Amino acid sequence: MDDDLLAWRREFPILERSTYLVSHSLGAMPRAVWSELQAYADTWATRGVRAWAEGWWQMPVTLGNRLGSIIGAAPGSVVMHQNVSVCQSLVLSCFDFDGPRNKIVYEDLNFPSVMYIYEAQRARGARVHMVPSEDGMRVPLERMLEAIDERTLLVPLSHVIFKSGYIQDVQAITRRAHQVGALVVADLYQSTGNVPVDVSAWDVDFATGGSVKWLCGGPGAGYLYVAPRLHAKLEPRMTGWMAHAHPFAFETGPIEYAPDVTRFLHGSPAIPALYAARAGYEIISKLGVPRIREKALRQGRLVWQAAEERGLEPRSPSNPAERSSMMILDVPDGAAVARELIRREILVDHRPGAGIRLSPHFYTSDEELLHCLDSIREILDAGAHRAHMKAGGVGF
Ligand SMILES: Cc1ncc(COP(=O)(O)O)c(C=O)c1O
Repeated sequence: MDDDLLAWRREFPILERSTYLVSHSLGAMPRAVWSELQAYADTWATRGVRAWAEGWWQMPVTLGNRLGSIIGAAPGSVVMHQNVSVCQSLVLSCFDFDGPRNKIVYEDLNFPSVMYIYEAQRARGARVHMVPSEDGMRVPLERMLEAIDERTLLVPLSHVIFKSGYIQDVQAITRRAHQVGALVVADLYQSTGNVPVDVSAWDVDFATGGSVKWLCGGPGAGYLYVAPRLHAKLEPRMTGWMAHAHPFAFETGPIEYAPDVTRFLHGSPAIPALYAARAGYEIISKLGVPRIREKALRQGRLVWQAAEERGLEPRSPSNPAERSSMMILDVPDGAAVARELIRREILVDHRPGAGIRLSPHFYTSDEELLHCLDSIREILDAGAHRAHMKAGGVGF
């Protein structure tokens, strides 16, 4: 199979020694991260404190713009933070729950960290409505739409479900939310970099995600998109001096919010993480997500068929259009099998209630996918995973 994207393999050192099928958790490190981190250290070493004025201070916005071009955000509508949990908390700090519009609607397949944050709002008067999934894979769209009513304030949802790869219809949910005056907070962590995303066309109010996974950007570079129409209306109470209209005036007393997206900033940013993230963004932007998606659809079909031929049960939506690059295999003793795969340098992970998660990314060859499936079959047949049975789940 002719696959131009495989030329990118040489940019990812770990691919020389590992079968890397875990980009839904931590994307492989681009070689250019070394030079980015060197550039960070050189700047600090040679420019010292002047580095702030020469780019560091602006970096949460300049890098936000770079990321924004991947998710369809207008320049000046994305800021960088440490992670999704911080971004969600910052969004929530803009709202009160003591009025009649105090309902939060979310699905039980959201990422747990996001649930913890919304559930905690009950103490502030929020009514939290969780929409259950029937199969643990998909969220029933009709149920989501029904649950969103005139009392709903916020709808936090995952574009792609972390346990199954299921792609939710963000646009339909946003349409419904807007009909009744509710706002949507889209978690794009499992989609950005592998499934096309367009926050402007979908008209979502907020979006957030991180760089660890499909963007190959490493930890510490979360992003927050706020629709430009909302900037002037919102006053986050989770705030800091970077959100001030004149931070270097060091004014005392209450904050005067910046008029633009910088009002959604906080304190001093994690500059090294922002340098590291640039390398992955450059590659993903150069390739374009539609090209990555096209390959994922082909390899998804390959994995599905090869899994069935080997008697392994996929536990993701069967319709390729409904699932991301990630696939789940529900094999007996999945956690122990995943441990044995990792011991053999085939990097996957396991999630309780789901199964073994494995993902091709643009740098994955067909041979690697077949090698992984053959290995699972062989491990199960030989009982090679039994040695790991007492060790419990695979944490990472
Ligand atoms: C959908 C989704 N949201 C959020 C997170 C993580 O959030 P945070 O950046 O706060 O660690 C993950 C995975 O780690 C995820 O899969």
